Amino acid sequence: MEWGSTTLAFYGVGAAAVATSLATLRRRLQLSKAKHASLTGHARMARWVASFVPFYQYDEIRFFCSDDAPPDIAALRRAGFLRLSALYKTRYAETIGRTDEVAGGISDLQFTEAYRIPFQYGAVVRQHLKFGAFVQSSEGVTVTDLDGNRFYDLTGSYGVNVLGYDFYKQAIARGLERVRELGPVLGAYHPVIADNVRRLQAISGLDEVSFHMSGTEAVMQAVRLARYHTRRSHLARFCGAYHGWWGDVQPGIGNPVPAHETYTLNDMSCDSLRVLRTRRDIACVLVNPLQALHPNAGAPADGSLVDSSRSAQFDKGAYADWLKQLRTVCSEKNIVLIFDEVFVGFRLAVGGAQDYFGVRADLVTYGKTLGGGLPIGVLCGRKDLMRRFRDERPADICFARGTFNSHPYVMAAMHEFLQHLETPQGRAVYRDLDRVWNERAQRLNQRLEAEALPVRVANMSSIWTVCYTRPARYNWMLQYYLRAEGLALSWVGTGRLIFSLNYTDDDFAAVADRFVAAATAMQRDGWWWCDTATTNKSIRRRILKEMIAHKFSPRRAIT
Ligand SMILES: Cc1ncc(COP(=O)(O)O)c(C=O)c1O
Repeated sequence: MEWGSTTLAFYGVGAAAVATSLATLRRRLQLSKAKHASLTGHARMARWVASFVPFYQYDEIRFFCSDDAPPDIAALRRAGFLRLSALYKTRYAETIGRTDEVAGGISDLQFTEAYRIPFQYGAVVRQHLKFGAFVQSSEGVTVTDLDGNRFYDLTGSYGVNVLGYDFYKQAIARGLERVRELGPVLGAYHPVIADNVRRLQAISGLDEVSFHMSGTEAVMQAVRLARYHTRRSHLARFCGAYHGWWGDVQPGIGNPVPAHETYTLNDMSCDSLRVLRTRRDIACVLVNPLQALHPNAGAPADGSLVDSSRSAQFDKGAYADWLKQLRTVCSEKNIVLIFDEVFVGFRLAVGGAQDYFGVRADLVTYGKTLGGGLPIGVLCGRKDLMRRFRDERPADICFARGTFNSHPYVMAAMHEFLQHLETPQGRAVYRDLDRVWNERAQRLNQRLEAEALPVRVANMSSIWTVCYTRPARYNWMLQYYLRAEGLALSWVGTGRLIFSLNYTDDDFAAVADRFVAAATAMQRDGWWWCDTATTNKSIRRRILKEMIAHKFSPRRAIT
């Protein structure tokens, strides 16, 4: 009898252990299923693969025929390249000269220049087609370089420029005037802050506000608070989404150490909802609504534009439905839903993505344009989630401070921005916004199609990206042709064009003319040549072969 009960107990413990292991295994499998198939969906593997990519580059012959183009096409490309190079050297002489002088001392510049285009082409391009980093003034929708060349600005200052540079100049000037008597006193508040808080509460529909110095910091604080209040360890983010450069939100390439407490999930997928429903360690879900334009893909920089597989398509209804499903799961499971609106806040609508998609979040981060032209990060949230201490346990706090938080100059410029949004003029900017930008994109695409150019644009309101319809290795050259036509792009090139909302129809018509002219010149110069056998897959296979050849036999490898 005694033996019998011991045996039973033994089997009982064994069965419980097996059940627990099976449940763990099931959750593990669910997690694997909820990862996007690309390397971007597998952060650890991506870092591992990246560590094997060898450096190699093309010489001045291979540069023009890395896709095995015939000699006549290579000659066409060379002639076009030299013409552009001569134009850059004369037209941008002063700007390039000054950039050359300082580049060795500015780390950021060295990084952006190295990753402006695929690395194999870097040496030749950097020698002949230098980019000037300086501008001296801005006006309307244009910026002017040191040589006096005016460019239509398509950089949007990384998204900060929503209302036009002249607006921010005035906001900063008026703001400085308002807080002049106080000056840069930190710690204590200028009274203007009270008004900012009131307006932000109304815009976000949330109870409390905290001020930080950058979008990255606002996101850090949101995640930290979610972990503190839920007492859970993990944050879930979606594949490809950018949330600043803090380690936990950048688990893959770019971060030298692994982010152990981050799950990167497949965007817009039922498998991901299942993970959220079944795991008990998820504190928060971080959403960057910009991903609606290219779910599961990272920021589409020209540095990784090795073929024409970049794609983008915005479906507002489908993304709104996805956010609603996320909202439901998060509410059911007490997971904190965070909208990271650092980029899209105040760009899609005054009330940001929450209003635009009709879904409320628990915490919302803002930044960029909200500072009225000065650096900022803001977190708005539910009262219970924003609290940084516990009444019942005074030593258990969630610490967050920052020397420059609530800087009077920033608060005053922010005040100008927020106040403007409530004026009829400020409201008018957002009227019909999507229709205006969708029509502009559609018209440009019609022209590109009519001219048989293998280029199209895709947009989410005023945020655009350029896609390519023919398999090709030189799409990144378009950024150099666009510059020659007087269109300024950021260092990510054609991957992201950001328009300020003060673009008039005439301004945009000028941009469209120049865009078509640039693409026409690039087509004429043979960069989009491809034979019938070329596909995006064959291009990638070819690059892989080059890498393997270089890895194992660097001397013999193609240069
Ligand atoms: C969605 C999003 N979150 C966070 C950040 C980081 O903001 P910051 O560059 O101000 O640190 C960015 C910056 O581009 C962003 O787009």
